[in-house]
Amino acid sequence: MYPIIRDFLFKFDAEKVHYLAEFFLSKVANKPFVQDWILSNFFSYDSMLENRIWDLSFPNPVGLAAGFDKNGVMVEGLGLLGFGYLELGTVTKNPQSGNIKPRLWRHIDEQSLQNAMGFNNNGSKIVAKNIANVYPFCIPIGINLGKNKDAKDALNSYAEVLKDFLDLGDYYVFNLSSPNTPNLRDLQNVDFVDELFCMARELTKKPILLKISPDMEIDTMLKTCEMAIKKGASGIIATNTTIDYSVVRAPKDRGGISGMAISQKSKEVFKILAQSFFKETILISVGGIHSAHEAYERIKLGASLIQVFSHFIFYGPKLSKDINLGILEKLREDGLDHISQAVGVDL
Ligand SMILES: Cc1cc2nc3c(=O)[nH]c(=O)nc-3n(C[C@H](O)[C@H](O)[C@H](O)COP(=O)(O)O)c2cc1C
Repeated sequence: MYPIIRDFLFKFDAEKVHYLAEFFLSKVANKPFVQDWILSNFFSYDSMLENRIWDLSFPNPVGLAAGFDKNGVMVEGLGLLGFGYLELGTVTKNPQSGNIKPRLWRHIDEQSLQNAMGFNNNGSKIVAKNIANVYPFCIPIGINLGKNKDAKDALNSYAEVLKDFLDLGDYYVFNLSSPNTPNLRDLQNVDFVDELFCMARELTKKPILLKISPDMEIDTMLKTCEMAIKKGASGIIATNTTIDYSVVRAPKDRGGISGMAISQKSKEVFKILAQSFFKETILISVGGIHSAHEAYERIKLGASLIQVFSHFIFYGPKLSKDINLGILEKLREDGLDHISQAVGVDL
């Protein structure tokens, strides 16, 4: 059924279709009969996949990556789709409208997306109110934090947005890796990360992660992550979108690419990261995860959790359920009784 709906929706502008999905997930999905229908089709649970990480209980390892629900308005609807956790945002201190449109494109043959959104969001005060309506939630909620485009003092911008969420969210992510805010990725350096995590650790004891780009020079990436961990980061999320436009046939001239086209690149970066930091911190793999096979590979490479975004658009609402069922099958094939036994076995 979904392929028919998808092919119809793909005739329209990608961002407009996103708002249609947002309407459904925020206003329709939680109505009693609709909710039951969604749960019976798209939700699954198995204790083999439930894992405790940072003292939080994740019912399964498949999370929704940041950027899908930037304003925290779809939490209940998304919760019905069987995700193990949701990462909301990126949220900035002040509301901002993002870059000029169009700013979201599909590369259909490559099952990939390209976006130049630019942290469009309603700002931390409003987003915090939205999240407060549903928090605490039945699955962990991460809040992905960013800097306003016009902020002069980057450190202060991150501090201000974090302060608005101190009572909300189960973990935080500092996003220094979006290609759509000018110079943001330059903050991926040891000095800034040192200051950033020192600042954050004065404010909260909750888990705080760093989300990195797949385009960094390896040495810089490792040093930056090492500093983050040393200064109190609870994990690393790899990766954000790439600006290596060679991965698709007809790239647009701006934005970052995600989806199947970045699968290999994201996995390679993740592997390098895991070879250095597995067991030292929690690693989350994201970027081109499009099947249970791919998800399981990342887990065996050291990912305690994984995230999906682009393939949710191409595959549809059953994605989390099908990845989870596939992982269960693979665990059984490997003679394992719990997900934790698979994490890092290929390193
Ligand atoms: C339309 C769109 C918007 C995104 N917005 C954000 C964002 O606000 N913050 C963020 O950290 N990552 C954002 N991302 C990146 C995703 O969270 C993810 O890291 C990336 O898409 C790779 O995963 P995928 O290949 O499964 O899509 C966005 C991605 C897309 C496609």
